[in-house]
Amino acid sequence: MLIKSNKISKQSAAVVTGAGSGIGKSFAYEISKRGGSVLCVDIDEEAATKTASMLKKMGGIAVPYQCDVGNADEMRRLSNEAETLLGRPITLLINNAGVGVGGAIGKVPLEDWKWCVDVNLWGVIHGCHFFAPKLKSLGYGGIINVASAAAFGAAPEMSAYNVTKAGVLALSETLAAEFSGTGVHISALCPTLVPTNIIASGRIDSQKKSLGQRAMNSLAMTTSDKVAKLSLNTLDKGKLYILPQLDARIAWRAKRLAPRLYTKTIGEVYRLFA
Ligand SMILES: NC(=O)c1ccc[n+]([C@@H]2O[C@H](COP(=O)([O-])OP(=O)(O)OC[C@H]3O[C@@H](n4cnc5c(N)ncnc54)[C@H](O)[C@@H]3O)[C@@H](O)[C@H]2O)c1
Repeated sequence: MLIKSNKISKQSAAVVTGAGSGIGKSFAYEISKRGGSVLCVDIDEEAATKTASMLKKMGGIAVPYQCDVGNADEMRRLSNEAETLLGRPITLLINNAGVGVGGAIGKVPLEDWKWCVDVNLWGVIHGCHFFAPKLKSLGYGGIINVASAAAFGAAPEMSAYNVTKAGVLALSETLAAEFSGTGVHISALCPTLVPTNIIASGRIDSQKKSLGQRAMNSLAMTTSDKVAKLSLNTLDKGKLYILPQLDARIAWRAKRLAPRLYTKTIGEVYRLFA
């Protein structure tokens, strides 16, 4: 018998995109630790398989699945096959897959903009489009959309990335309103730096890439495992916003309290280092 609960249990079945690395891998691990089965989705088949094998070694139920989240047909196929592959209705969707793109406006090639929008924004749109109606009919469960503090942080030379994350935040806020009272919880995760492979695998010029990597290694105030754990606990409580680090919470407040001053200050700091 299915227990209609939003809390992760042995009855839970989760689809985690970008499960082959970083935050997605940590989500897969934490869901499995809590008893849920996991469909480990990634464009990188080998990485998805490695995560699924790790969960199976822990005694969990996990299936690897190769899929490009930016491709509507592949995401439709995923949504049609997920329930059969895990043997139960999908109760949790983690729209996590994402890529990094950086550079000044006019210098970032349009094909890199497109790649970023396809994966970071269309990937989440596809996930919500194909899975959210199924969750609504089920009447419980949840969706965590992995946005970023970039959604509101206005960091210069990150236009493409910032735009996609602002879109993910807007979509999550809209769904939270649209799904109110349905029993399905929606949360948007907005971290600042978390040590993962996103900078190393991103399309960022080499000088900025090494700067970003150094900042990630030295300034990150958390780990992907802690972020995943906190996010699942926050979803359980039915809260929309997940701001896992102090700097994310400070930027969030400052931007809301004094948006003009916030952007001006960010610009001045940028000019000092540019
Ligand atoms: N690491 C950070 O500092 C940070 C901060 C804020 C938000 N985020 C967000 O967290 C999410 C996870 O990123 P991460 O930092 O763990 O990066 P990561 O590079 O370690 O992992 C991303 C995973 O997504 C997969 N992926 C990439 N394109 C895909 C596609 N088209 N279809 C399916 N899978 C694809 C990759 O193969 C990889 O396994 C992203 O949405 C990212 O924007 C990261």
